[in-house]
Amino acid sequence: MGKKIFSGVQPTGNLHLGNYLGAIKNFVDLNNEPANECVFCVVDLHAITVNQDPQELRNNIRETVATFIACGINPEKSIIFNQSAVPAHSEAAWLLSCVARMGWLNRMTQFKEKAGKDKEKASIGLYSYPILMAADILLYDTTHVPVGQDQKQHLELCRDIAQKFNNDYGVDDFLKIPEPLIQKQFSRIMSLKDGTKKMSKSELSDLSRINLTDDKDLIVNKIKKAKTDPLPLPSNTDELMKRPEARNLLEIYSSLKNSSLDNSVGEFKGKKFSDFKDKLTQLLVEKINPITLEIKKLVNDKGFLDKILLEGHKKANNIASKKIKKMQEIIGF
Ligand code: TYM
Repeated sequence: MGKKIFSGVQPTGNLHLGNYLGAIKNFVDLNNEPANECVFCVVDLHAITVNQDPQELRNNIRETVATFIACGINPEKSIIFNQSAVPAHSEAAWLLSCVARMGWLNRMTQFKEKAGKDKEKASIGLYSYPILMAADILLYDTTHVPVGQDQKQHLELCRDIAQKFNNDYGVDDFLKIPEPLIQKQFSRIMSLKDGTKKMSKSELSDLSRINLTDDKDLIVNKIKKAKTDPLPLPSNTDELMKRPEARNLLEIYSSLKNSSLDNSVGEFKGKKFSDFKDKLTQLLVEKINPITLEIKKLVNDKGFLDKILLEGHKKANNIASKKIKKMQEIIGF
């Protein structure tokens, strides 16, 4: 039987190699399995949990759609839409926020990281954003949610919320309990400047990540400057545990090559970082450059991108509006 897939990506600009290897590459594989029904959402409501410039947000929404398509998602096969165009998302988020418990949200590590020291000044939206994420998933009777490792805790919360709604209202199985789809390997791509920190679009230094819009020269430069350590490459994966930068670069290489970490370690054991970096750069350019060129072409075709969003939103709205109506009836409205 096919899976019902839902996942989302924030349109905050600078989609990077972490987003690609941790999530979007899997969206493409899931999209290519004929039996699956896939919904891929540009989560613009999530983006405004921190300040956004309206014109930049509009551009970034289109660029995210362009990235989905450039990476290989087929809009004829999968629904692609932006979250704010389907009102049921905001509404379900409210309904579910009356089910979710403060104690559960207080445990979310991503909020703690993002809010930093000054929690008092973080938006309420940043705090409650995992509830909106649960709404996204549950409106589509999703069975599987492909994401990177950093979203695992939010998915566990989503499952708890669904379970509590079903229990509270005595509607067994009304909200479907989704399974996370997190790759066993390469689901957490790290910064090129610090192998212990996640590659992230909010990191100040652009040298810390490969953006999907970086041209060949930028990729060459960023890999040249990527942090390493003074030793030659190790001969087994155990040694990598204490060498986070070497591990991250080898993981990126393996993931791009669809190969195992063991194979890559075998390929480069005892070699100098400069030799390995040459091969890594070559592979990155080979895999990322065609995507970059396609994104650059597609972002100029606003009409095409808007048409995809319009068609996607009609289909998404059709599904989500029915589910929210049933939720309202269950609640007593
Ligand atoms: P976002 O926009 O931060 O990231 C999009 C996807 O990319 C993955 N990712 C990574 N994977 C590996 N290594 C990294 N360094 C890395 N950085 C990001 C994320 O895990 C994610 O899968 N809240 C979500 C978006 C969302 C969503 C949803 C996801 C909203 N509603 C419903 C699934 C289902 C987010 O902010 O992702």
